[in-house]
Amino acid sequence: MSTPHIDAAPGEIADTVLFPGDPLRARHIAAEFLADATEVTSRRNMLGFTGHYRGMRVSVMGSGMGIPSCAIYATELARVYGVRRIVRVGTCGGVGDVALGDLLLAQAASTDSNFNRMQFGGHELAACADFELLRAVADTAARNDIPVRIASVFSSDCFYGGDPDLVARLLQHRIMAIDMESAGLYGLAMREGIQALSVLAVSDHLQRGEHMSAEQREQGQSRMVSLVLESLLPPMETSR
Ligand code: HPA
Repeated sequence: MSTPHIDAAPGEIADTVLFPGDPLRARHIAAEFLADATEVTSRRNMLGFTGHYRGMRVSVMGSGMGIPSCAIYATELARVYGVRRIVRVGTCGGVGDVALGDLLLAQAASTDSNFNRMQFGGHELAACADFELLRAVADTAARNDIPVRIASVFSSDCFYGGDPDLVARLLQHRIMAIDMESAGLYGLAMREGIQALSVLAVSDHLQRGEHMSAEQREQGQSRMVSLVLESLLPPMETSR
């Protein structure tokens, strides 16, 4: 068994997948955090690995950039490989009073994408995180004194251009950051009956023109992945 976009064998992908945008990040996360990590898919160089974190079997795979890419991989993971939990570990561009390095747990994701609307009969979907996953990560952060912010985010199809008034609209609606995937991932997870959460490090500030260095991004990613993996350890159980 393989899919048009994933060439892992049956059973090679764990129930739980960490989902960074960049496939090289996936390799890095596997090397840093997983014991016995093996590469299980590399079609189109969208690398995926499976290994163990403190005894818990977990996979990490790149999602690519944007909702279409993310949705292709997430759909195939859910439908063909039986994946039940997907946690996006990515970056975002912040607005307002967020700072570079802040960790956001995306409770809800608005979007300028038509993806969810197309799947939902033209209606507007309230794309939201799985509460159990959100609570698990928030609780683990609180127990370990790791500051996180429960955030509303906006997933845009446009990295360049798009709505010139977007930042003002986001501020008006208390939306803290922009990424390019969360709303699609959430809508898809709702339809597939799986759990999804986006944990995002603020890597850029859209109003202040600030950007993390490559080194800062790597450190941010490590803190975020460590928090997520600790949160996923049993007794966190899948509810669906
Ligand atoms: N826009 C969209 N996605 C992002 C950004 C951004 O500025 N920074 C990191 N991911």
